[in-house]
Amino acid sequence: MSNESLANLLSENRRFAPPAELAARANVTASAYGEAAADRLAFWAAQARRLTWETEPTQTLDWSRPPFAKWFADGTLNVAYNCVDRHVESGHGDRVALYFEGEPGDTRTLTYADLKREVSKAAHALTELGVRAGDRVAIYMPMIPETAVAMLACARIGAPHSVVFGGFSADALATRIEDADARVVITADGGYRRGKPSGLKGAVDEALTRPGTENVRSVLVVRRTGQEVGWTAGRDVWWHELVDRQSEEHSPQAFPAEHPLFILYTSGTTGKPKGILHTSGGYLTQTAFTHHSVFDLKPETDIYWCTADVGWVTGHSYIVYGPLANGATGVMYEGTPDTPHRGRWWEIVQKYGVTLIYTAPTAIRTCMKWGDDIPARFDLSSLRILGSVGEPINPEAWIWYRENIGGGRTPVVDTWWQTETGAMMISPLPGVTEAKPGSAQVPLPGISATVVDDEGREVPDGSGGYLVLTEPWPSMLRTIWGDDQRFLDTYWSRFEGRYFAGDGAKKDDDGDIWLLGRVDDVMLVSGHNISTTEVESALVSHPKVAEAAVVGATDPTTGQAICAFVILRGNVAEDESLAEELRSHVAKELGPIAKPKRILPVAELPKTRSGKIMRRLLRDVAENRALGDVTTLTDSSVMDLIQAKLPAAA
Ligand code: WT7
Repeated sequence: MSNESLANLLSENRRFAPPAELAARANVTASAYGEAAADRLAFWAAQARRLTWETEPTQTLDWSRPPFAKWFADGTLNVAYNCVDRHVESGHGDRVALYFEGEPGDTRTLTYADLKREVSKAAHALTELGVRAGDRVAIYMPMIPETAVAMLACARIGAPHSVVFGGFSADALATRIEDADARVVITADGGYRRGKPSGLKGAVDEALTRPGTENVRSVLVVRRTGQEVGWTAGRDVWWHELVDRQSEEHSPQAFPAEHPLFILYTSGTTGKPKGILHTSGGYLTQTAFTHHSVFDLKPETDIYWCTADVGWVTGHSYIVYGPLANGATGVMYEGTPDTPHRGRWWEIVQKYGVTLIYTAPTAIRTCMKWGDDIPARFDLSSLRILGSVGEPINPEAWIWYRENIGGGRTPVVDTWWQTETGAMMISPLPGVTEAKPGSAQVPLPGISATVVDDEGREVPDGSGGYLVLTEPWPSMLRTIWGDDQRFLDTYWSRFEGRYFAGDGAKKDDDGDIWLLGRVDDVMLVSGHNISTTEVESALVSHPKVAEAAVVGATDPTTGQAICAFVILRGNVAEDESLAEELRSHVAKELGPIAKPKRILPVAELPKTRSGKIMRRLLRDVAENRALGDVTTLTDSSVMDLIQAKLPAAA
């Protein structure tokens, strides 16, 4: 990928300045960039003082053995104390930490004082089960308050957790339990999903029959749905029986800043999942700082809602650790956005008066598809900042989000980061940055990122290449659990001394960064590098298209040919002229070279459970191959529907 990457010619050229009142009261102003640039380490040392340390660190970064970083290494702290107890001690025990909304409509409110009691009891319970500092605990849970309590209880006793998303299968769970060598599994009988109880405990039972999981001695089970569950005496124990009888007083012990906090598995394109290891002091510093600055959090008045699942890094960093370290009031919702109706999310915003929301482009595009009239039925005037994460957000979806959810008033912050980075890295600041729809724009203060060409040379403004991070950052992954060599090979060998993120990116004429998707998703058409993201954005900017996924299929004349799968908006009918209309639209937006050779209207797109489009499978379809592994799809029947469309469109 190189200078040949297409210029972004999408017709959206509007710029959005920060609202004046927000800018006037913003937590972080433009001077932060200058301060961080003048002395990056002093900047991070100052941010570390957001936390309460048992022993204040005197050291900031130890980079003597790159790329194995140590941040604040001689400091000690307890992460759970920072997220819970200190807010109670400073007089905010009555502040709500979590408003929980169950899918069936049941609700719970936990103040910081409540949270302190629950976390303390759970910490004692884990200790009673024999969990010691350093032991790994697997957490396989629905989105309920006990999930956050369990994570914090692990942190409190220094036991790294490994949260496995509740939508994963018994096999996926077993692989992760084995790799982390977990000693205890915390789970629930089940949770509510699409209007009915779905099971979790059965998958744990099945996983624990697999070889490699023998070291699990206890399974702690929350009763959420009341459904029947299998029971292994001597191993299984009910949360309400064990946790509820524990003492509400627990003294947190301080651990070194580099003590492991959690492992979180992320699936690579090939090979077994990578256990991304995060540690304590640097991780908490950067999650707290970014949540404070990018959401301009005012803990006394804001109501913050991150719609992600706790099973993803977004949930770790921006439901649990960052917000709670900052003493925020958060909303946690158990279920799906369309249960019992497609306005459920907006009803929640109205009900709790949500001021800050953090969600993913895939969710925004789904809401676009459902129609503007749905959010219009709710009072969303409490919202003041809208966040996006997970994929490039198309300019069209960005504008829709701002207009239809933000009432045309609110900044949109497009935050680029990864499981590996632990916290946000590239994002506008809502009180500072003049926003460009579709661009994550600038590295946050204290973060160094750029775009390089194949040889690792920084590209000039106006050109494309690969995104790299050029200096270590506090919340960076420390390694891949048990596999330092894979850590070196995956992230540090492509470009000497720099972290290779695996994303294509370009700098525009102002030097702002635009993310172009994973580098494996770049197409080579007649010698030109074309990003799937840009063609998708061009398609979505057509009024008839709600969502698009683009792949390059092998082509005898052009090397690869662009094949586009599109979901049409609400009541648009599919007719003969449609394909030609969309083709010429793309040609007009991006240039004739980017014109898709084939356009296939489909009802759904194949997505992973975290909402990313599985282009690999679409490539299989476009190249008439048998489908590869479909086990991580949310709904594998989607592929049957897509294949059924093929002959007609060929
Ligand atoms: C990959 C990381 C970070 C939490 C959720 C995903 C893509 C993420 C953006 C964004 C463009 C983005 C990248 C990245 N990505 N945010 N704002 N703009 N792309 O975590 O599963 O580790 O995925 O998601 O491709 O590398 P993850």
